[in-house]
Amino acid sequence: MSRLEAETASASARASIEDPPTAAGPGEPAIRPATVEDGAGVWRLVVDSGVLDVNSSYAYLLFLDHFGHTSVVAETGTEDVVGFVTGFRPPRRPEVIFVWQVAVAESMRGRGLARRLLEALIRLDGCRGARYLETTVTPSNAPSRALFRSLARGLDAELTVSPYLGEELFPEEGHEPEELHRIGPIRITPSTPGPPRSPNAGGQRSATRKDP
Ligand SMILES: CC(C)(COP(=O)(O)OP(=O)(O)OC[C@H]1O[C@@H](n2cnc3c(N)ncnc32)[C@H](O)[C@@H]1OP(=O)(O)O)[C@@H](O)C(=O)NCCC(=O)NCCS
Repeated sequence: MSRLEAETASASARASIEDPPTAAGPGEPAIRPATVEDGAGVWRLVVDSGVLDVNSSYAYLLFLDHFGHTSVVAETGTEDVVGFVTGFRPPRRPEVIFVWQVAVAESMRGRGLARRLLEALIRLDGCRGARYLETTVTPSNAPSRALFRSLARGLDAELTVSPYLGEELFPEEGHEPEELHRIGPIRITPSTPGPPRSPNAGGQRSATRKDP
């Protein structure tokens, strides 16, 4: 039967998510919403990860064209994509941000970049109104489980893990089941990361907002 595990984390360890996103320090990758032009770099990171399901490059281009506003990439000064989170709002559950895939280049791991990417993601204008972040993780992916535990702790939100896609649903041999990780309710202050827009550029930054 279904296993349900709940973990609640302490509020103290990290800065509040209501703080504005930290500007990238010297040498730190900058985080911004994704565009279709990031599709190739994202696809490469997925291939290089060696653990993520690799979809066609076309799938990433299409996904980022449609859902770039709910996805983020981290890039270095040389404009290489060194990390990303792809996400979307499930049409029938707009209170949810669903994270499809996350990866960080091996050379950049262990420095908090994946955490920063997820925190930037939930502040995007495209994630306005979302109260839960969901994703699926395989039982053997310890780094990914640690990442979402860490995010929940930083948000002072509950993390629940429940069965989702059983291995019998996958056509290929040996695919692990995917468990649903759900974090929330979360309180979000949207603010699109990236270079500040000129007041004359036609775009408007969103007002700071706290969900009730
Ligand atoms: C999972 C992944 C994205 C983490 O990236 P990262 O930038 O190194 O992660 P962070 O430095 O932000 O660490 C976030 C938390 O996860 C923990 N963590 C990260 N890698 C870990 C590892 N290999 N083992 C144990 N814990 C790990 C960190 O300790 C941190 O927790 P803390 O805040 O309690 O200290 C990266 O390892 C990766 O790209 N893996 C391959 C792709 C993948 O598995 N994606 C996830 C499934 S969609």
